[in-house]
Amino acid sequence: MEPKEKLIFALDVEHFQEAQELVMEFKDHVGMFKVGKQLFTHCGPKIVDFIKLKKSKVFLDLKYHDIPNTVAKAAIEAAKLGVDMMNVHTAGGFTMMKEAQTALHDTAKGLHVRRPKIIGVTVLTSIDDQELKRMGIEMPVYELTKRLALLAKEAGLDGVVAGGSEIEMIRELCGKDFIIVTPGVRIEEKKDDQKRTITPVDAVRKGATYIVLGRAVRDSKNPRQLLAKISEDIRRGVPHK
Ligand code: C5P
Repeated sequence: MEPKEKLIFALDVEHFQEAQELVMEFKDHVGMFKVGKQLFTHCGPKIVDFIKLKKSKVFLDLKYHDIPNTVAKAAIEAAKLGVDMMNVHTAGGFTMMKEAQTALHDTAKGLHVRRPKIIGVTVLTSIDDQELKRMGIEMPVYELTKRLALLAKEAGLDGVVAGGSEIEMIRELCGKDFIIVTPGVRIEEKKDDQKRTITPVDAVRKGATYIVLGRAVRDSKNPRQLLAKISEDIRRGVPHK
């Protein structure tokens, strides 16, 4: 995989036009665009169509978390949209993950299209041990992530979303082909809502398949130059300066 293909750009913006501009600006510098709740709620499938029209890949990051039947139905719609990757919350349970995976498989087969990859969100990177305790969960993030990643694999998911500190453990436990998507990527130490952060090169070195770049790139002075530098650093395996 080329370094730039490992980069997922988060289209966390308010307007369709802004998203379109970002796609045009970055399509040759990243492997996939992530469409999340804000943008999808605002403009719906037309952003997916636009990205596909520009021959780029789409990660539909709606993090479904509901009863198995509801999530399976949503997964079917995602397959019909033609996204390349989608996700559910592993906390929705084994049955939900399994049914979503089966629904995707059957729909893609029926439509003669490639089945979208389906991955499970383990523990959000905005959550730390203390936050888990407040929710009544005594297990540390690391242990809970381990359990949820194994559950996702057992349910037939293609991979997981997990924080930087859990990448090596998941790679070891779930094998080389298991997709690991790592958000919470920061170029420098910066305090915001992400509690478990990692730099792009460290994430890839530890074994992440993809890294999600959001504010770290969007808020930089020259995002395109930064993306090119991140790709180059990944290629050379050097820490980002
Ligand atoms: O701007 P920032 O780099 O924090 O963006 C991270 C993106 O990754 C957001 O779109 C967020 O929804 C997503 N994400 C995350 N943590 C996860 C899964 C996805 O931050 N565990």
